[in-house]
Amino acid sequence: MKLPSTEQTTPNVRPKKLDLDQRAISILRENEWGDYTLPTKGLYPYQWNWDSMFVALGFSEIDLDRAWTEVESLFQGQWKNGMAAHIVFRRDSPSYFPGPKIWGGTHEVPTSGCSQPPVAATIVRDLYEKDPVQGKKRLLDLFPRLMRWHRWFHTMRVISGGAAIAVTHPWESGRDNSPDWDEALDDVDPSGVTPYTRKDLGHVDAAMRPTNAQYDRYIKLVEYGRNCGWDHAQITREGPFAVADPGITFILMRADRDLQALARYLEKESAVHEIDTWLYRDKIAADYLWNDDIDAYAARNMRNGQHSDGVSSVSFLSYYAGITKPKRDAKLQRTLNRILSIAPYSLPSFDPEHPKFDSKRYWRGPTWAIINYLVARGLSEYGFEEKANRIRLDTRRVIQKSGFYEYFDPITGEGSGGNNFTWTAAIWLAWASPMTDG
Ligand code: GLC
Repeated sequence: MKLPSTEQTTPNVRPKKLDLDQRAISILRENEWGDYTLPTKGLYPYQWNWDSMFVALGFSEIDLDRAWTEVESLFQGQWKNGMAAHIVFRRDSPSYFPGPKIWGGTHEVPTSGCSQPPVAATIVRDLYEKDPVQGKKRLLDLFPRLMRWHRWFHTMRVISGGAAIAVTHPWESGRDNSPDWDEALDDVDPSGVTPYTRKDLGHVDAAMRPTNAQYDRYIKLVEYGRNCGWDHAQITREGPFAVADPGITFILMRADRDLQALARYLEKESAVHEIDTWLYRDKIAADYLWNDDIDAYAARNMRNGQHSDGVSSVSFLSYYAGITKPKRDAKLQRTLNRILSIAPYSLPSFDPEHPKFDSKRYWRGPTWAIINYLVARGLSEYGFEEKANRIRLDTRRVIQKSGFYEYFDPITGEGSGGNNFTWTAAIWLAWASPMTDG
């Protein structure tokens, strides 16, 4: 894709679509902090794991070198045990809670104590394939880090005998207050939580954010992790919260495949074999997540085996993950058709026909450009071009209508959460802009 440079052209002769391309580039540049990029200034003043990787994808459209730098900086937050942390703090910012002291991470660069969806290997493969000559040296350095991180997921976030990847904090899933976590979160006892003041409500309307009851439990989970010295094996095995997540499981499956392709480029045979064992287990994980009651893949509480009873947008990431089963797929496609027919600005993060659907509140209904991109990428790879295109055009329309918001109301298209959001800008540049057509 060819994009305009950031230089100014005469505003009144510039077509409208170019305005959005320029604006998206400016949003990335305005949120750069040296070698990493913020989700958006104010609300999120640090480096977030998967945000940063989508940002790298956006940068790769205009500045491939900067894209690699973004990925490299994330791994400054990689722990000795392999985990790439969900937030890399580097400094303390009074505008954010919970900051580095509350997390009490054990890595030398201050970070949070959990991880986030591992889109990195997939995006590193994208960067590498754009220019293998320039990318080789950088890939050589990143490859072992990616291997260690994936190995951490496959060992520290599975319960013995199982294969689906658990999240041990809703924040690890990247879908913070999805109804997928409600049942397991209810079992977390919030009593005795150290008193705290939320900072998110100073930036965004409370109606769009998690409730206080949820927040108490989020902080209780952080305190549990800190008190056990962030022993991730213990947290997964016996901590207060462990839910198998279709989002992180499918994203990791896809990333495993891409990591294996990178291993082949680098002729790392033993890594290719190790990844084969992960891919074998990935299929078992998909079986575990399928919920026949709702005809979709769904989260599953590892403590009691209970499935979530609602359809999240990440259910449709099975294609992206490379998982197909004809009978199941036919049912999944019917579920997708139903949801697409109700939500004019798809893809809603939660089923609009479910009683818990909330079109404004964070991951309980709103549409997110990043998930749209991942779902559509998978659908398109499996020949569901029409649906992939519908989701892409919905993403385009909603950004054209409302701007670069963090997320959008799937019914009205209104933007919500933070504005001038870097991952929305990045997805625009890499996929949703008319400039990416053809
Ligand atoms: C919220 C989102 C999470 C994202 C972070 C920064 O916590 O739920 O997915 O990484 O904000 O944008």
